[in-house]
Amino acid sequence: MSAPTQSAPPAGGTAPTAPQPPRTDAAANTQSTFLAACRGQPVSHTPIWVMRQAGRYLPEYRELRAKVDFESLTRKAELAAEVTLQPLRRFDLDAAILFSDIMTPLQGMGIDLHFDPGPVVRNPIRTDAQIDALPALRPARDLPFVLDSIKLIRPELPRGAPLIGFAGGPFTLLCYLVSGKPSKEFGVARSFLYAQPESAERLLDHLGDAMAAYLGAQAAAGAQALMMFESWAGLLAPREFNRFALRAVRRTMAKLREQTDVPLIYYVNQGSALMQSVADLDVDVIGVDWRSPLSECARILGPNKSLQGNLDPAALFAAPGELKRSAEIVLQEGRAARGHIFNLGHGIWPETSPDAVARLVDYVHESSSR
Ligand code: CP3
Repeated sequence: MSAPTQSAPPAGGTAPTAPQPPRTDAAANTQSTFLAACRGQPVSHTPIWVMRQAGRYLPEYRELRAKVDFESLTRKAELAAEVTLQPLRRFDLDAAILFSDIMTPLQGMGIDLHFDPGPVVRNPIRTDAQIDALPALRPARDLPFVLDSIKLIRPELPRGAPLIGFAGGPFTLLCYLVSGKPSKEFGVARSFLYAQPESAERLLDHLGDAMAAYLGAQAAAGAQALMMFESWAGLLAPREFNRFALRAVRRTMAKLREQTDVPLIYYVNQGSALMQSVADLDVDVIGVDWRSPLSECARILGPNKSLQGNLDPAALFAAPGELKRSAEIVLQEGRAARGHIFNLGHGIWPETSPDAVARLVDYVHESSSR
């Protein structure tokens, strides 16, 4: 994930967060508010989960990470299941997201990469010969630990919270594969689109097909919604977004619709200028970053999409009253959409206080109760 890790101001409130008692309202025991909101059905309150909710801002995650490296956490089904469940034990969250990484399936395809802390690819992919040599992904053979962790997580989920499976968007994966390392603007990857457009399309098709197989296998193993993280699509002008990123995603989503009927979520970071382009993409939910008001996104997307987002991760550093005011604006803006899942606009920062997350989750539930 790409949340900035520069030092952030200390968050207000340092008392340890007490574990949350289970909610007892009827909705918690019946249909999931998260799945209902994905489909634009009525909900008893606005559901909330947090991008990168399992991670370094949690002391229990850091404790485990002190003993086990990140890749082992993703590759050992029991550990990935444990980390997935950590935030659900602490907060009254309405969904869990599988603990893994968007780069994990690429390791399953034999690509030599490691995390330092972002993904580093030993031999960046830039030639047709390299693209042609990429094997097809066979999830059960190449990533059995991911499917095993889904099977371990499902029976342990508290309060009937559903499990979200995920993959990287084809263009975001291309960014890391072509660039070989994290970058602010991915100039190497973007110039690859212009210099070798046919090669780029072939690589995107290959990645899109691999992610369709991967996400389909996650749903078959028990994932109840599927999210595609297109973290770097906002770097593209609309014409290049349509030609490269969106074309590949359309193909992936069409393949997924043939395999499963779980809700599909497409997250576009910095996607304000791209809302019109994604309006007719066949997904249930569009995830957005904090830069565009949800009401504006809803107006462009129309009545057939729910929205997920979009509090600035930095807002969690506000004093409690100010955090409430920021959350309230997001809730109000979200009422313009046919369904709203509250989330941050991007991954939570490692410096965030868990107390601030607890306050946010409780406030969203209280304020949106109907
Ligand atoms: O949301 C969750 O709780 C599920 C887990 C999850 C991780 N990465 C764990 C992780 C998810 C959904 C991701 C997605 C991901 N990974 C994205 C898309 C979302 C986004 O941020 O735009 C991207 C671009 C990546 C690639 C990646 N992985 C980067 C850039 C980094 C380093 C970022 C950093 O903050 O250090 C990673 C490593 C990573 N992935 C960590 C975690 C918890 C940190 C690993 C550690 O413990 O050291």
